[in-house]
Order: sequence, then C-alpha cells, then structure tokens
Amino acid sequence: MSVKPEISDFIALKGQRKIVCLTAYSAPMAHALDPHCDLLLVGDSVAMVIYGMDTTQNADLDMMIRHGQAVMRRRQSALVVIDLPAGSYENSPAQALASAAEIMAKTGADAVKLEGGTDLAPHVKCLVGSGIPVLGHIGLLPQHAVAGAAFRITGRSDEESAQLHADADALVTAGVFGIVMEGVIEPVAASIAQSCAVPTIGIGASAVCDGQILVTEDVLGLYDAFTPKFVRKFANLQDDIGAAAAHYRAAVIDGSFPTKDHLFWPKKT
Ligand code: KIV
Repeated sequence: MSVKPEISDFIALKGQRKIVCLTAYSAPMAHALDPHCDLLLVGDSVAMVIYGMDTTQNADLDMMIRHGQAVMRRRQSALVVIDLPAGSYENSPAQALASAAEIMAKTGADAVKLEGGTDLAPHVKCLVGSGIPVLGHIGLLPQHAVAGAAFRITGRSDEESAQLHADADALVTAGVFGIVMEGVIEPVAASIAQSCAVPTIGIGASAVCDGQILVTEDVLGLYDAFTPKFVRKFANLQDDIGAAAAHYRAAVIDGSFPTKDHLFWPKKT
C-alpha cells in the first residue's frame, strides 16, 4: 500500500540518519528504487540520459511532466521531486509559479527543484508562499553550464565560498525544505552542510552532507556518455543487457526460442 510521504518526515531525517536519494524517470525504475530511497528526483538530466541530448537545457515542461507522471504511477513512499526545466522559471516569481503549479497539478508530485541561490530567493518565496514545496540546488548548476564545456567545480576562491554560503542562507530564509549541493569543494561543502538548517544533499560535495544523490543510470552503469568523478558504479547493467541481447539473438537464430510453451494452441475440445 502506498503511503503519502510528508516533507516534515524528510526534514526530520536530518541528524537521524543519512538521506538516500536517486533520480528516476520511468514507472519501472520508480517501482524498483522506491523501497530504497527517501526521495526520487525526476531530474532534467532525463534530457541527456534518456533522450541522448547534449545538455539538461534541452529539457522542457512537457518532458518533465510526462516523466513525472510515469514516476508517480509507481512510487510508493518516497518523496517525488520534479526539476523545473531551464527557461521555465528564471524570469520572474510569477513565471516560476505558473510552471511549478502546472507540474504539481499534472503530476501530483510532492515538490519541485530549481537551480540557483540568492538570485532565486524571491522565486522560492513565492512558490513556498503558494504552498509548493521547493528543493534548492546550489554549486555546479548544469542548467547554466555552457554546452560541451567541462562542468566547473565551485568554492575554490573566497568569493565563491562566500557566494555559496549566501546562496544556502538565502534559500533557507526563502523557505526551501532541503538543498542539493553539487560539485562544491570539500571544506566549503562541509561547512555549509554543518551550518544549514535544512537537509543538504550532496552530489560531488561533502560526505558531511545529510544525504547523497546520484543519477541512477550512472549508479547502474547504464549511461556512459560521460562519467563524472563523483560517480560510483554499483552495477554494470550495460554489459548485462548486451549479454542478454546476445543470448536472445543466438536463441532466435538457432531456433531454440520460442518453444511450444511460448506459443498459443487451439483449446482441446
Ligand atoms: O537533473 C538531475 O539529475 C539533478 C541531480 C542533482 C542529479 O539535478
């Protein structure tokens, strides 16, 4: 039986145990991951991982809604958060509210995520004030990365470190229930994680963070276009899929598949 997850339960995990998060873009993946995760993110990384596009900037509202609906059909108890895609929220709090409200209404998800810090505090305040929970995302922001360029790790200078602290503070004041920290050097990420009032979720950031998130296809060895340093592969399903397809091919060619058990026969009278 599915239990509607509560944002307050997610926040309460801070200081109790590490928070487990993964991306999910499809119904079967949501079904498989849900028992093991506190949060499933329908990330705009779907554009690269599933559609083979060059950047997350190619994701759009329709894409996020379609995949959000698929994930919501099979989630049981994990919180489902959907990325607001690039271009759908940055212009104004009103634009962010219109996009977030559409995603929430059409998917029934629990929250949205957006990328940015101090610059987006008014947008976050507007969403939270309208009853839409928001997960923040600071540090390396893929929606802002130049296509084809290497993703840049942040926090190396005093200015960047101060900006990251200011970003986290502004998001917390605006009302986010958690913050994803991506690609931030260790001492800076650790110091933000230690002082942040809401759960911090690291990806290429500190183990001090309250939880971790990775792209599921990276974890499973299903996406090899680019593997960042922060990824650990816990399986190599691409090899398993290749082996299964080779067995299928051999069975079709040598006639050992299908057998009579896979076929339909007239009913005996
Ligand atoms: O789109 C995404 O997958 C993300 C992550 C934090 C992994 O934003």
